[in-house]
Amino acid sequence: MQSHFEKSRALQKRATQTIPLGVNSNFRYWGEGITPYVQKAQGAYLWDVDGNRYIDYRLAFGPIILGHAHPDVNSCVHEEIDQGVLFAMTGELEVAVIEKIVAMCPAVEMARLACSGTEATMHALRVARAYTGRELVIKFEGMYHGFQDYMLFSTYAPVEAYGSYRSPIPIPASSGIPKALNDLVVTLPFNDFEGLEKTLRRVGYETAAVIAEPCMGNCGAILPAPGFLEFIRQKCTEYGIVFILDEVKTGFRIANGGAQEFYRLDPDMATYAKAIGNGYPLAAFGGKKSIMQIVGRGVSQGGTYNNNKPGVAAAYATLSLLQSQPILETIALRGQRLMDGLKAIFAEAGIPACFNGYPAMFSFALGVETVTNQRDWSESEKGYYLRLVEAAIQRGVMPDHDPREPWFLCYSHGEAEIDETLDVMRDVVKSVKR
Ligand SMILES: Cc1ncc(COP(=O)(O)O)c(C=O)c1O
Repeated sequence: MQSHFEKSRALQKRATQTIPLGVNSNFRYWGEGITPYVQKAQGAYLWDVDGNRYIDYRLAFGPIILGHAHPDVNSCVHEEIDQGVLFAMTGELEVAVIEKIVAMCPAVEMARLACSGTEATMHALRVARAYTGRELVIKFEGMYHGFQDYMLFSTYAPVEAYGSYRSPIPIPASSGIPKALNDLVVTLPFNDFEGLEKTLRRVGYETAAVIAEPCMGNCGAILPAPGFLEFIRQKCTEYGIVFILDEVKTGFRIANGGAQEFYRLDPDMATYAKAIGNGYPLAAFGGKKSIMQIVGRGVSQGGTYNNNKPGVAAAYATLSLLQSQPILETIALRGQRLMDGLKAIFAEAGIPACFNGYPAMFSFALGVETVTNQRDWSESEKGYYLRLVEAAIQRGVMPDHDPREPWFLCYSHGEAEIDETLDVMRDVVKSVKR
């Protein structure tokens, strides 16, 4: 444990009186007495209320791409908010932001803004249903598309509940999700060509959308098997289904044009949030003109805060920096060095570690050689991973507590931070019993 943690414990106790679990999102609760409460963050670092400093690999679950409190982003936001923050009318800066999204993301010809990833996927699903006149949606087990009821199935349930590979059971992730929605979703294991093919033979012409993260950004960053995303593309074309690529985690992170640039993929629609605004709230959904132009023509979409000025200004500054400097290339090089260093540490210790994801967002599953979907990922040594992570956090290196969450890198992680992280992890792997 950090030498001081009293203030976090005291704040947790106080917060628990008025906030369920003392946090404003279930995922931020790590347990009683061990949940850090934050004072501030700058660059690649985060400080808790006791003054402990951490190299931050959570990066708020991914949005921070340049670094915390980035001066160029903050100064653009300051300049803009002095002229008002919300008008419920359209301004030039938000038009420029959408022009940037269209210029950067190869499959996006038109887009609209929203405030969160949850909203972006919710809007995209409505558009896909309206466009096809169908209701069923196919999603993959272990993928997360936000907190809306439609998609909160088979995200993080124990996989024993998922049933057989050939007839998976959609498992709602929460009480309170209407039973009727079970009939609107089909869940499948990721990377299962045959499962998708068979399912589409059965329900292809009733299916409005196949929604997929390019990699399992909410379950160990499991990569797509070669050709799997392309297979989804091909099958969606065959059955007249809208292919929605959920780039909320990969967008403006693994390449300027996200996974669709990385894999040269042509989804019908894509959703964005997180890195688009370097931490300020903004999201977008977009895609082919033929689909997007039904928005507003019989298809309803709105939101008071959709063009909130802080988010729009932050996105303008962030995307301008990504367009003008080799930021993501630099992050990829440093991330690769971190991944290679960690691989060497586990290899030296004789511990099987299956690395997945991209240098800017990667994971490792321990005690297994390969993982292709949530079912086999769940066989990994999660308890050991957690003990390693807790020891790393005590030494000032902070990945997320949850083994499903990737390690995220930002432009502010320099060579010195990578070196320090590798030193800490070498020590941790030596000292924590498997
Ligand atoms: C792939 C994906 N889609 C959607 C969401 C929901 O985004 P938000 O938390 O901004 O609502 C997330 C959040 O982690 C995500 O990872």
